[in-house]
Amino acid sequence: MADNASAADIVPVFQEQAEKTMLRFITCGSVDDGKSSLIGRLLYDSKLIFEDQLESLVDDSKKVGTQGEDIDFALLVDGLAAEREQGITIDVAYRFFTTEKRKFIVADTPGHEQYTRNMATGASTAELAVILIDARKGVLTQTRRHSYIVSLLQVPNIVLAINKMDLVDYDQAVFDRISAEYREFARSIGIDDVTCVPISALYGDNVMAPSENTPWYQGPSLLQQLESVEVATEDLARPFRFPVQWVNRPNLDFRGFSGTVASGVIAVGDEIVTLPSARTSRIARIVTQDGDLPRAEAGQAVTLVLEDEIDISRGDVIATPQARPEVTDQFMAHLLWMSDQPMLPSRPYLLKTGNSTVSATVTALKHKVNVNTMAQEAGRTLVSNEVGVCNLSLDAPVAFDPFVTCQPMGSFVLIDRLTNGTVAMGMIDHGLRRADNIHWQAQAIDKVARSQLKQQNPAVLWFTGLSGSGKSTIANLIEQRLFARGKHTVILDGDNVRHGLNRDLGFTDTDRVENIRRIGETSKLMAEAGLITSVSFISPFRAERQMVRGLLEDGEFIEIFVDASLELCASRDPKGLYKKAQAGEIKNFTGFDSPYEAPEAAEITLDSATTTAEQAADQIMGYLEANEYLSDT
Ligand code: ADX
Repeated sequence: MADNASAADIVPVFQEQAEKTMLRFITCGSVDDGKSSLIGRLLYDSKLIFEDQLESLVDDSKKVGTQGEDIDFALLVDGLAAEREQGITIDVAYRFFTTEKRKFIVADTPGHEQYTRNMATGASTAELAVILIDARKGVLTQTRRHSYIVSLLQVPNIVLAINKMDLVDYDQAVFDRISAEYREFARSIGIDDVTCVPISALYGDNVMAPSENTPWYQGPSLLQQLESVEVATEDLARPFRFPVQWVNRPNLDFRGFSGTVASGVIAVGDEIVTLPSARTSRIARIVTQDGDLPRAEAGQAVTLVLEDEIDISRGDVIATPQARPEVTDQFMAHLLWMSDQPMLPSRPYLLKTGNSTVSATVTALKHKVNVNTMAQEAGRTLVSNEVGVCNLSLDAPVAFDPFVTCQPMGSFVLIDRLTNGTVAMGMIDHGLRRADNIHWQAQAIDKVARSQLKQQNPAVLWFTGLSGSGKSTIANLIEQRLFARGKHTVILDGDNVRHGLNRDLGFTDTDRVENIRRIGETSKLMAEAGLITSVSFISPFRAERQMVRGLLEDGEFIEIFVDASLELCASRDPKGLYKKAQAGEIKNFTGFDSPYEAPEAAEITLDSATTTAEQAADQIMGYLEANEYLSDT
């Protein structure tokens, strides 16, 4: 059986199976609901050819691939590899089995409350969800949660398997009551079509074949339903969408755009538009390894050659001009948060959609959805397994469709910039109109002109370190020295700015992130004005300091780490805050119950224990001289 199955054994089996259709489904429920027995029974009774956690087949599948029968496997294995690459631990076991009529891949996910993210990962590729209910317990919170996630991910077919019918004497009244209750709930979250099946996973009633114990039930057995449900073939009437995966340019005579058709159909001669650039052209050729095609449809991997030379890069979308995707840098989306680190509005994440990756921040958490009660709740952050409706702002426009109309064009993941781990799964609802109405205004006098008038190069001296490390003192000395040399300067100081621009912010992680975002943007304006700015903020998080570096031009951001131990700062205690923090009178105090992430590659590190403020100022001036910041432009 499974454990011994090698690639060589599998290949002939797959060739035999190649004609059968495939159904990917997910089982939702907990061990108590009988999920394991149900999966076990399906695998056993279907005289499965092999069963395994697909993970162990990753290597074998490569061999299988070279034998030309890799399609189903590759899809699955790719999915797993992508998860791994993203560094996320998702507990989903994919099992494979086959009957005479159909092949199946079942995603088996743990059912505990905290594993919403596992379920969502399994459901994201499923065409059908089996929701398991214990007949003695009926519709539970967990049933509602699973159903909501399944509806959010647009899983097209739902089967409600009411299990343990043997324990309620195969009573039709129990089945009818639970079915009715579930259907009513399902309708409230937009699921209209549900097939309810009374089963006993333990004894096999209505699992494979109709059971004599339920003569009142005329519907299909669970397996009959799995075998006969229409797997929605791609709706080819949908608009053509082709996210460009890579630009194929083997030599100067050939330039094609490779990728997989996400939806619709395209034929040679058809008119197309490229996005976000909005240039139009026609399809000259549709190239594959096996020669040119006259047309290609959703799911096919092809290389498109256009009649005109258009500049297209990876991540752009080729689409039909008759029904264009939207292009925006701001949209509203449902986010399923998957990371143990909470979502922080204003923190820059990487957003990956189709084939493009851009920087993005959550600008507003409009509300959270309580996945147990479906209630909308207010909140400032999302923690692992929570779902929220958010506005996002990207640093470059992307082409997209709402998730409900085109899943490949409407889904994305958010990635932590420092750890590279996936932190959220996202489903786009719609673009924000306000983004359409805000444009960039050209300015007649630019940064270069402003700097030249001041005879200096703009720079941001970004002092970071614990409270009491000496940031403000040193920043003051530096400003005096620069001023004495006729330089145009300004100081942004945490304590001062928090009295004005940022007086609405406190010291939670969320507020600190927003604090630094605003100061980063302000520093950028100062640099635009041609000024040399000294910024002295604790700025405890690497991610936000990196974000500010990204906002500025190369060389403008000079990170200065004022390195002082907590003990040293506490012994100085210039504002008496450490005493209060030690007495428990201040919450979220940096170094106590709020973290400080020291820079890893600051331009300048000052050792506060062994260096006086004057010496520190000398060190910084030396750096500015050596790197020609002070030479007159
Ligand atoms: S940051 O973390 O968001 O960058 P910022 O530099 O603006 O902090 O403000 C820090 C200053 O606020 C400290 O120098 C200190 O005077 C004061 N402060 C008050 N409460 C706290 C706190 N809980 N943690 C750190 N600093 C605090």
